[in-house]
Amino acid sequence: MSAYKILLLPGDGIGPEISAEAEKVIDFLGRAGVASFEIERGLVGGAAYDVHGVAISEGDMALAQAADAVLLAAVGGPKWDGVPYDVRPEAGLLRLRKDLGLFANLRPAICYPALADASSLKRELVDGLDIMIVRELTGGVYFGEPKEITDLGDGQKRAVDTQVYETYEIERIGRVAFELARKRRNKVTSSEKANVMKSGYLWREVVTALHKREYADVQLEHMLADALAMQLVRWPKQFDVVVTDNLFGDMLSDEAAMLTGSLGMLPSASLGAADANGKRKAMYEPCHGSAPDIAGKGVANPIAMIGSLGMAMRYSFDNPKAADAIDAAISGVLGKGLRTADIKGDAPASISTREMGDAIVAELKTIL
Ligand code: NAI
Ligand code: MG
Repeated sequence: MSAYKILLLPGDGIGPEISAEAEKVIDFLGRAGVASFEIERGLVGGAAYDVHGVAISEGDMALAQAADAVLLAAVGGPKWDGVPYDVRPEAGLLRLRKDLGLFANLRPAICYPALADASSLKRELVDGLDIMIVRELTGGVYFGEPKEITDLGDGQKRAVDTQVYETYEIERIGRVAFELARKRRNKVTSSEKANVMKSGYLWREVVTALHKREYADVQLEHMLADALAMQLVRWPKQFDVVVTDNLFGDMLSDEAAMLTGSLGMLPSASLGAADANGKRKAMYEPCHGSAPDIAGKGVANPIAMIGSLGMAMRYSFDNPKAADAIDAAISGVLGKGLRTADIKGDAPASISTREMGDAIVAELKTIL
């Protein structure tokens, strides 16, 4: 069995605490003979800035390029508020995304039955919810040129952002969505504003052609992004895979995340293009940030981080069995009423970050 190379980047705030719990799960999977791993450790964000003066060092970038998967916890915090723009903690994330070519951001919104009452929606609308938002991550209005502010004189300025998409960018993200749907409930909802944006018009045209050519077996629907925002809170279970651009994906994935009621629960994957052997560069991270308000207290919820490792098992390590086992272990501990403080709800008491990690490993032992 060849070993999978993981670069672990704990980062800042609660990052090191939740990383340690993901490492427990990695160790367990190794000992159980599920897969073998080689772990490298690096610095990102404020942690890298404090040592190297940059948000990620060239050495750690080289490790990221060589890894089968990067597992990152979180970056940022008030300590680095004043640092120069190009070395601020978030610059480490952007550098990783850009240099690894991570164009596909996968954000599941999963509502575990045991937590359905934490949602802002009624239990029956979200209980068992499992949707996957696929957001294009390296193109669109955040990157398009021109992007500038011009001084017009007389106190007036003009700001321009430009949304640009080319056929190949839409095709490759569309492909990711269709492939995912085939392994799920076989439905893709593609979203843009084809009615008012040229880039949206092209998006719809390209996705439609790709579907007809290669994925006619998958159910495809198109939905304008504003309508989708509405439908997500009206009847979210109608969706399986949603594919959309960088800007709409940013908002819709945050909206979908809140349906589940708990930021500390949600993992994500960012994938690059497949090489000739079908291997993709990939980075896995929780959707939440570094939670400076609770850092160092040992109370952070490690589930999003452990769920991110689960996604790595599925999308980088070709081990859906281990991924399913991790999901089942998370569901299992929640079903037993174990809760960290952020998801405590009406539970009588909460457990620590470490206790949650240990409980998930114990549950995994009964599954694998
Ligand atoms: P945040 O996600 O760090 O925290 C929002 C709230 O959720 C806080 O009350 C926090 O305690 C809680 N929370 C988040 N994750 C949790 C967990 N695993 N367990 C228990 N509670 C949890 O977002 P915020 O406060 O806006 O940002 C804090 C810092 O994180 C900032 O410096 C921000 O730039 C950075 N950030 C980093 C991200 C990343 O690394 N990808 C993403 C978002 C923010
Ligand atoms: Mg966002």
